[in-house]
Amino acid sequence: MPPAENIEICLRYGTLQFGIPNSRYKGEKMIQTEEMEFAPRVIVPENIPEDGDIEVTLRPQTLHDYIGQEKVKEKIAIYIEAAKRRGEPLDHVLLYGPPGLGKTTLSAIIAHELGVNLRVTTGPAIEKPGDLVSLLTSLNDNDVLFIDEIHRLSRAVEEILYPALEDRVIDIIIGKGPSARSIRMDLKPFTLIGATTRAGQLSAPLRDRFGVIERLELYSKDNLTDIVRRSAMILGIPCETDGAAEIAGRARGTPRIANRLLKRVRDFADVMGNGQITQEIASIALSRLEIDALGLDSLDRRMLDMIIKGYGGGPVGLETLASAIGEESVTLEDVCEPFLMQLGFLGRTPRGRCATKLAYEHLGYAPPEQAAPPDTGQLSFNA
Ligand SMILES: Nc1ncnc2c1ncn2[C@@H]1O[C@H](COP(=O)(O)OP(=O)(O)O)[C@@H](O)[C@H]1O
Ligand SMILES: [Mg+2]
Repeated sequence: MPPAENIEICLRYGTLQFGIPNSRYKGEKMIQTEEMEFAPRVIVPENIPEDGDIEVTLRPQTLHDYIGQEKVKEKIAIYIEAAKRRGEPLDHVLLYGPPGLGKTTLSAIIAHELGVNLRVTTGPAIEKPGDLVSLLTSLNDNDVLFIDEIHRLSRAVEEILYPALEDRVIDIIIGKGPSARSIRMDLKPFTLIGATTRAGQLSAPLRDRFGVIERLELYSKDNLTDIVRRSAMILGIPCETDGAAEIAGRARGTPRIANRLLKRVRDFADVMGNGQITQEIASIALSRLEIDALGLDSLDRRMLDMIIKGYGGGPVGLETLASAIGEESVTLEDVCEPFLMQLGFLGRTPRGRCATKLAYEHLGYAPPEQAAPPDTGQLSFNA
């Protein structure tokens, strides 16, 4: 995000189209180039503007088209069927896991499979309790309300949500001072689907009100290969299975990244070959993008390198590590760590992060006698 004042500058000059002094306009452009320097990573799992409409086009619409996450899918399919047979709303669902794994997609699929309307909002967008009240009262029978980034709801808003989720009522206070009174309003039956990358930040009372809590896992290479092939077919890109597998193997378990890499590799295939994505072209393209055979990019390698060379393999505190390599600690925690831990490259101890023997070997260093054992513990509520 650009700093707020930059946004303001853009907005202000955006409306004054004809009165923009030349120098100011250049100034605005400069801000944009600076911005570029901070966002060069191809493999950030968050949604970035260049994903554009493709993300929407590629989003599967049914559970059948939703590849992978078999355990979650199986359970959700049963809950949906049961709810439909009883003519009741689905229990409230909480989906959590790293960005780009398909939480938003799955929520839309659930509403679609239930045959109900979907209302979409995000935690930070619901500023006042009144905003939530109007959302809740506008829902029809058994509709789905999807709140993305639900860990960012304010306390006051959360409090409206408790009775709404539990007893399907909301308490509204009318008036002020001694004459204020509280009235209780009934809501229609509905399902809340909350999505979060940080389940640990959810308050316990809110978490307890979800009947279904599911964690989405990083995808296997086979599943990602299928996702890349499906996306290539939809976009009309000729792609060999080996080519798709090459992309899948370097997409750090994340469909959003796999789709983005597919787009980048297509450019190479168009320029260097005949447009067909082969394993060779994919491999060359991804190496040019500085994504190595396991899907690590320069930031992952910088992080491991710093632990190994700067701190003797660790343990080193996350904040120390972040400032040593000039990156935000949340980026390391949300983006690099889940993946590095899944590969068994990183250990998390109470005293800090450690590089494992595998990490030493991958980066081409001789491992010390007692390097940390791999820690494959995934993100959990207590993480
Ligand atoms: N299981 C899946 N099968 C196919 N494509 C998927 C799957 N999960 C995610 N995607 C793709 O990845 C993109 C990002 O998914 P999204 O639901 O926005 O992730 P999240 O909300 O968890 O950040 C979507 O556009 C979709 O095309
Ligand atoms: Mg999302």
